[in-house]
Amino acid sequence: MTAPTVPSIDKYLGTNVLLLPQTDQLRALHTVIRDRNARREDFVFCSGRIIRLLIEAGLNLLPFEPHDVRTPVGSTYPGLRLATRLCGVPVVRAGESMESELRAVCPGIPIGKILIQRDTTTKLPKLYYTKFPDDIAERHVLLLDPMLATGGTALAAIEVLLEHGVPEQNIVFVNFITVPEGITAVCERFPRVRIVTSSIEQRLNEDAYMVPGIGDFGDRYFGTE
Ligand code: URA
Repeated sequence: MTAPTVPSIDKYLGTNVLLLPQTDQLRALHTVIRDRNARREDFVFCSGRIIRLLIEAGLNLLPFEPHDVRTPVGSTYPGLRLATRLCGVPVVRAGESMESELRAVCPGIPIGKILIQRDTTTKLPKLYYTKFPDDIAERHVLLLDPMLATGGTALAAIEVLLEHGVPEQNIVFVNFITVPEGITAVCERFPRVRIVTSSIEQRLNEDAYMVPGIGDFGDRYFGTE
């Protein structure tokens, strides 16, 4: 049997998808968390550092407006400030691993929730729970989910945000690792959503895990392996 073809994502890179610069430091952090023998505290610490980089990169995709300030030496600094209100929306459970870094960078940010799980009979993603601020349609949303594999959950989560009035172009999907299959699924259906990620893996395996991958992110992060 021939292996399924991995889609080309060249047209999405740098436009729909922002891949963090693949620095030696980032690769060293990834090396710790890719190690199947990594201790949980090392996994949590190193993934937290990467998540902080992803959040900062995601904020960089938002609109800013001019905001001059006077410096202590009486001069003017032609500054900028964020020109929108934000909402963080982790996809329960793995997305909650990204919440503390978001709160640290954006104190007071409202946090919504989406719980989507695969229906055991239909195998399709099923929405179980949502909670958003009433004015979410007027906010930019940082959608948090560390794993973008087949894209099923991401598509369902984005659909829910659109149903609540969030414009597609106001959604930044902050993602830890992904594969061409997941990128293609999201970018084809929602071309105005931006994705920030720290690694694009080779492919999905037959169990829909990313390769070389990280295993089950939620289990490793929350210690439920
Ligand atoms: N979810 C995970 O936690 N890991 C994968 O590789 C794919 C989906």
